[in-house]
Amino acid sequence: MRYWLLALYIFLFFFLLIESFLHWFIWGIFILYLPILYLAIRDFNQNESNIRKNYPFLGTINEFIDKQRHVLQEVLLQNRWEGRPFSLLQINYVKKKASDTLLSLPFGSELDFSNDDYFWCEHSFYPLKNIKRDFRVKIGSSQCKWPYEASIINVGAMSFGSISSAAVSALCNGAKKEGFAVNTGEGGISKHHWDSGCDLIWQIGTGYFGCRDSEGNFDEVLFQKQAINKQVKMIEIKISQGAKPGFGAILPASKNTQEIAKIRKIEPHTEVHSPGHHSSFSTHEELLNFINKLRNLSNMKPIGIKFCVGKKEDFDSLCRLMNESQVYPDFIVIEGGEGGSGAADLDSIHHVGWPLKESLDYIVKTLKANNLKDEIKVISTGKIISSVDIAKNLSMGADLCYSARGMMFSLGCVQSLKCNTNKCPTGITTMDKARVSGLDVMDKTQKVANYHRNLVQGLEKLYNATGINNLADKEKLKFNILEKVK
Ligand SMILES: Cc1cc2nc3c(=O)[nH]c(=O)nc-3n(C[C@H](O)[C@H](O)[C@H](O)COP(=O)(O)O)c2cc1C
Repeated sequence: MRYWLLALYIFLFFFLLIESFLHWFIWGIFILYLPILYLAIRDFNQNESNIRKNYPFLGTINEFIDKQRHVLQEVLLQNRWEGRPFSLLQINYVKKKASDTLLSLPFGSELDFSNDDYFWCEHSFYPLKNIKRDFRVKIGSSQCKWPYEASIINVGAMSFGSISSAAVSALCNGAKKEGFAVNTGEGGISKHHWDSGCDLIWQIGTGYFGCRDSEGNFDEVLFQKQAINKQVKMIEIKISQGAKPGFGAILPASKNTQEIAKIRKIEPHTEVHSPGHHSSFSTHEELLNFINKLRNLSNMKPIGIKFCVGKKEDFDSLCRLMNESQVYPDFIVIEGGEGGSGAADLDSIHHVGWPLKESLDYIVKTLKANNLKDEIKVISTGKIISSVDIAKNLSMGADLCYSARGMMFSLGCVQSLKCNTNKCPTGITTMDKARVSGLDVMDKTQKVANYHRNLVQGLEKLYNATGINNLADKEKLKFNILEKVK
């Protein structure tokens, strides 16, 4: 086949060349044809791709279209209720709330009400009038000295390095404007976080970036120096992450710039793998000691742990020990296996870890059974992008929520799935200066702030519709979803 095709391309070359001498306007076609011939000969002579070898040039077109499949689908072919991880309807929801214009939809829902995943919230016969509520939640057990009054929805962990400086600045400035918190992610605290003055939740991952010694182990002095800063409101120990639980994290060399390496205390321009496990603890006793250590070093600020549920017996036994020893974190972040990542391992992203709905139900019940729920606040995260999503999680026992990818959509993310390539077209998950310059920090700061404000207002309207007066009565919010969990 390939010989036939090559012969055809060479025949066309000579045919167009001769015709060009007879008709001057054929020169244009001849010149346009030259790159096709070049690609055909290149495909014929390579061994990397079977399809290009057997079908020179046609194979290149095929591969090009295949690479654009996601963009073509999203821009041209997809229905608005389709698309993964998020549908266009969901993305447009965030964009509407972020741009603060036309906060309505016409005609009727486009969702399939007969689908198994369809869920609904039960409203009241007698909705409440516009009651204003305080949607802030106090985090801090009796073991901490500086409880934090958190917003009901905050920016989930995304490190500087996985997202750009402009993205960090816009998220943090937006948070400062509306009074909510930003989780730093495991990449340490950058100048862009500090400069905004917003409330920070400092995440410590297995790489101890920003508080590690030359061997990569936890460094108490570096930790304490930053942890006692007024801007750091809480500290979160990341045990695992939904997209890669038990697997380590990857920072591609192309994203590891001089600035990022300096903050993380690593070698620049190298691919950095953080391990799947912590070097500071490997048993429940050691974990609780580590929590206590961070509490003391941070001057008794709230300390939390983040994980995706795996083996039930791990959490069951941790709860028993916390109950016996009366040492526990101030908050627990539950992430479902459906959570996102800048770069996750091929073998972890789809099938490792419990989904959020089942996790939340199990964690809240287990904490209650061990008399720990009053002391430990539960933060849930995993595809929470709307006010209804927040209400749904509250109804299942979460006290407050994080949104990471929702916040990315408010920054202009188009779900191009390029976070792990340094080629994000919107300047959010790239360190490429030209691409980052497309993200206008002032404009996006306002969008992040609008999105947050409209999420909280939406939640308020849901509370009114369901006839519930206080945030504390969140478990009176009724969704049909819990029946499915059982
Ligand atoms: C670009 C990107 C970077 C992330 N970085 C971190 C991180 O540093 N630490 C972490 O615990 N989770 C990280 N995550 C996971 C999020 O914090 C969040 O838990 C997960 O995406 C689920 O929430 P979402 O559905 O609102 O995005 C990251 C996610 C994304 C998309």
